[in-house]
Amino acid sequence: MESIQAIIDQINQIKKKPLNKNIQDTSYNCEICKDTGATDQGLCSCVKNKQISNKIKSAEVPDRFKNSRLKGLEIKDPSHKNAYDNAKVMILNIDKFIKNNWGLFIYGPPSQGKTEVQSCVVNELCIDKDYKGIMVNVKRLMGDLKDAVGKGTLNKILDTIKKNEIIALNDITGGKRPQDEFSPFERGIIYELVDAVYEKEKTLIITGKYNYDWVEDKLGTDVKDRIIQMCGIEPILMKGHNFREEHGKKRDAEVKKMIQKIS
Ligand SMILES: Nc1ncnc2c1ncn2[C@@H]1O[C@H](COP(=O)(O)OP(=O)(O)OP(=O)(O)O)[C@@H](O)[C@H]1O
Ligand SMILES: [Mg+2]
Ligand SMILES: [Zn+2]
Repeated sequence: MESIQAIIDQINQIKKKPLNKNIQDTSYNCEICKDTGATDQGLCSCVKNKQISNKIKSAEVPDRFKNSRLKGLEIKDPSHKNAYDNAKVMILNIDKFIKNNWGLFIYGPPSQGKTEVQSCVVNELCIDKDYKGIMVNVKRLMGDLKDAVGKGTLNKILDTIKKNEIIALNDITGGKRPQDEFSPFERGIIYELVDAVYEKEKTLIITGKYNYDWVEDKLGTDVKDRIIQMCGIEPILMKGHNFREEHGKKRDAEVKKMIQKIS
């Protein structure tokens, strides 16, 4: 799977150490801070870039979902079955989806398994098969870019994303509650992300908390219309069963048994 990390590596390559550095050689990985990581103004940009690169590394399928496959998923609500069916159809007809620039938009309250389904699609196509895909954690990317070195970094990240044919935008809600607004900067990033996928020979799978009305209200008609053209006019709702709560209850039952054993 293609990685955003690749572009961060490119950024950092500019500062690469020569292999045969000798004592007289005064070149540094970073000429700004002479590899100390600090400047008079505080943390050097090379350290910030490194931090960004480490964080962006995890913008791919999170470890938690590395083994997710549709086959193993429990169905606890009819809405979940509908989401799994849509995901299955996408997997079975992926070439057509890619050719037509079709995708999926899955939304609903927390803990329904939206990211789980999204991860299944990416894993089944990009790990089990050879499609090129990437999963982007939208909130993390927005946070990383806030600290990033500017438009150049955004463009490089977008270029890397665009090299993929399957793009998964994990939680387009970006951690916002319904009453929260996006800053113009954040809106700009999401517009660029969606527009980067809005091309023939690409497909996308978006997860989020809210429906298209929210998308229109918070992100604009231009973003909503692009998503609708790609993902259809009926977004896929997942609701009705809280998997995190279920797992928490299972945890409680086991710990309770352990406590009984020692008392
Ligand atoms: N069908 C399932 N069977 C068992 N566990 C599941 C299933 N779907 C999801 N889970 C587990 O439930 C937890 C929450 O799932 P997930 O992160 O996909 O929810 P989400 O709807 O994306 O939530 P959020 O909106 O907060 O991002 C995860 O630990 C996931 O592995
Ligand atoms: Mg999620
Ligand atoms: Zn530096």
